[in-house]
Amino acid sequence: MSTSLSKDLEHLRTLAEDSANPGRYGQHFHLMPPVGWLNDPNGLCQFNDVYHAFFQYSPFNAEGGVKMWGHSVSDDLIKWDYVGTPLYPDQPFDVSGVYSGCAYVEDGVMNVFYTGNVKKLDAAGYDYVCTGREANTIRTSSKDGINFEHRHVVMGNEDYPADDTEHVRDPKVWRDGDTYYMVQGARRTDDRGEVLVFKSDDMERWTLLNRITTEYPFGYMWECPDYFRLPDLGDGNLTKVLSVSPQGLTGGDWDRRNVYQSGYFVLRGDPTAEYRLQPFALWDAGFDFYAPQTFQADDGRRILIGWMGMPDEKTYTNPTVEDGWQHCFTIPREVSVRYGRVLQWPVREIEGYRANLREAGHSLFVEGSPTFDLEIDDMPEHMSFVYVKLADEFAITWGSGVLELRFLDDSKDGVGAGRHVRYEHLARLENMRIVGDMSSVEVFVNNGELTFSTRYYPKKYKAVVDAPGAHIQFWDLNV
Ligand code: FRU
Repeated sequence: MSTSLSKDLEHLRTLAEDSANPGRYGQHFHLMPPVGWLNDPNGLCQFNDVYHAFFQYSPFNAEGGVKMWGHSVSDDLIKWDYVGTPLYPDQPFDVSGVYSGCAYVEDGVMNVFYTGNVKKLDAAGYDYVCTGREANTIRTSSKDGINFEHRHVVMGNEDYPADDTEHVRDPKVWRDGDTYYMVQGARRTDDRGEVLVFKSDDMERWTLLNRITTEYPFGYMWECPDYFRLPDLGDGNLTKVLSVSPQGLTGGDWDRRNVYQSGYFVLRGDPTAEYRLQPFALWDAGFDFYAPQTFQADDGRRILIGWMGMPDEKTYTNPTVEDGWQHCFTIPREVSVRYGRVLQWPVREIEGYRANLREAGHSLFVEGSPTFDLEIDDMPEHMSFVYVKLADEFAITWGSGVLELRFLDDSKDGVGAGRHVRYEHLARLENMRIVGDMSSVEVFVNNGELTFSTRYYPKKYKAVVDAPGAHIQFWDLNV
């Protein structure tokens, strides 16, 4: 049912999109907004053979504004077509934003759950943490994947634990046997992040089963939780993965990393009862990565997509704001587990777009190829360094046990638009893969054990590779 508010929003959104022009840094194969701002991936699924990706969308302001769900579809996870904006913040229960959520497909129906954000008018001195907010859990469904009906509240503040703040959000639903489960991210009143686990028999009435957190304080808020199981390709054991995006990690190595983090805990035991969390591991150690979500494709693959952006980051920017848009998603990644290690690798479909192979065994120089796939493998046993330089200013190096991304000019006019350095310790380099689009670079190391994502803004597209004795392959990606 459309309201006069949603009709006006629809009209204004179309006007904004019609006059959009992404400019020179428009991405070729990374999902980006038609205009304005994009953040989290939402409602990822495969439905009637088509991949659906919804996204947190603010079409009217490239620096963020009221959130709705934009919608893109794809046959191969590489070429995305924007098809519209099915969910506007036009109801009393979501009027301050159609926040993040998921899609759960069953019996030809796409069930969508999201957080209806309500911020009350600041007449009573609200702090918007413990007071002044509603975090409504909304359900809606679609039979064609395009039109959504019967949008309604299934849980509200009163259904969450009393010692949680009003920051509870980002439902993710799955089914096990006859029971549906949902995780949501939350901030407790003692400023600790946690995951709430609910169950339901009918996706309508939900009851709280469990609260998952670390044994020690680990950030004040955990956003965008996800939970999935994967068979270990090495030893056959089932691995349970709890993914979260914690905010408020400080001290030690956290101080040189991003403002907020996204990572996972391997979970032992039962997420609905007794559990133990293994050490937290980052999904991605680059400059731009947050709020990833996964889904299972019909062929069984677990696919992860992250937001290639970083909220509340003040030191670096994205010059695309001048072109009226900001942010994009990562390339979809196949997630697997081998001998306890969680690996991420670009979906295999991208290889179908490779063309014009250039190969070398020592060093390589390529100019004028903005969209590319670079693989460095078959490392000699005593490999001591690898050096890659992109766009004259962006060095990706491994040596002395450190994998580093460094923008040589860290000013806002540089290729990194203010980004400077990110690194992680890595004793042994087995292989490296770098996927480049017009304004992004994603680095996959050791079969995807470690990844780094970043936006960049080249003046000239160039690649210099030095990897003595290794096998270097460089393809253009013609998407
Ligand atoms: C994560 C997040 C979510 C929220 C959404 C709002 O980036 O803050 O927790 O639902 O973005 O856009």
